[in-house]
Amino acid sequence: MTSDDTPGLTEMTEANRAAWDASEPLHRAGPDWQALLDRARAGKFSTLDETLTETLLGLSPGGKRVVQIGCNNGRELLSVAALGAVPALGIDHSRAFLDQGEELAAAAGVSCQFLCADVYALPEDTPSDFDIALVTIGVLGWMPDLARFLSATAGLLAPGGRLVMYETHPFLEMFDPRAEDPFSPRTSYFAEGPDIGDEAITYDGPTEAKAGVSYWFVHRMGDIVTACVEAGLVIDHLSEHPHSNREADFDVYCDRDAQLPMCFTLVATKAARR
Ligand SMILES: C[S@@+](CC[C@H](N)C(=O)[O-])C[C@H]1O[C@@H](n2cnc3c(N)ncnc32)[C@H](O)[C@@H]1O
Repeated sequence: MTSDDTPGLTEMTEANRAAWDASEPLHRAGPDWQALLDRARAGKFSTLDETLTETLLGLSPGGKRVVQIGCNNGRELLSVAALGAVPALGIDHSRAFLDQGEELAAAAGVSCQFLCADVYALPEDTPSDFDIALVTIGVLGWMPDLARFLSATAGLLAPGGRLVMYETHPFLEMFDPRAEDPFSPRTSYFAEGPDIGDEAITYDGPTEAKAGVSYWFVHRMGDIVTACVEAGLVIDHLSEHPHSNREADFDVYCDRDAQLPMCFTLVATKAARR
């Protein structure tokens, strides 16, 4: 603990890792995991939605080596093979989810390395020559220190390599689809985290199951952009989208006249020299 009893970065990421590991049996027991394995066995499969597919296709992905940070069970990373890219390395600190990743890669017949590590403490020999670094839905919120996260991510890229971030829009995080009035903001856009929870982490809404304390951070759009710039990334484009890439609960915010931004895509290039 730090002097004011706020956990330090390592304590928070370690607690988050334990919560992810403890949640894995729930994911494995659900119908989605077997369905995913079946799709992988059936041949070329992709879990990438249209937006992420189009973004990656726009980078001429053929033969490009992709690293994903917070790859979970590798379903998205392995999917880039269908676009002709090379799913080269998946990084995640949850051993339990990387075990799923190994199984999924074997089922898909796709070769991919997985590295079990905290992104804030990557081994010194981690390669730093990837063409594309992927950060997708549900990763930024687990990062207590955005600047260090983006710096570590940029460090994985070769000069000229591209960051592709496809994440929840921070404005959406002000709303709770399960609240009595889901359209009243539940929190300030400028609230300082973390949100501390103890629920198991699932993709299909709330659960009674517990997984130990975890720490969630909502990073403002300005902070995300600034952290990219400070990490030596030149922003190519930032697109805000009206569609959802969240759990089904969030569909209540889709297709409205007064539409909230729901997710965003940010593409940036690692500067040749700093
Ligand atoms: C919501 S999941 C990503 C899911 C992915 N977008 C998908 O759709 O399959 C977030 C992942 O980030 C990982 N993670 C969180 N903090 C991390 C850290 N400090 N280092 C490495 N991985 C981390 C978690 O273990 C988890 O697997």
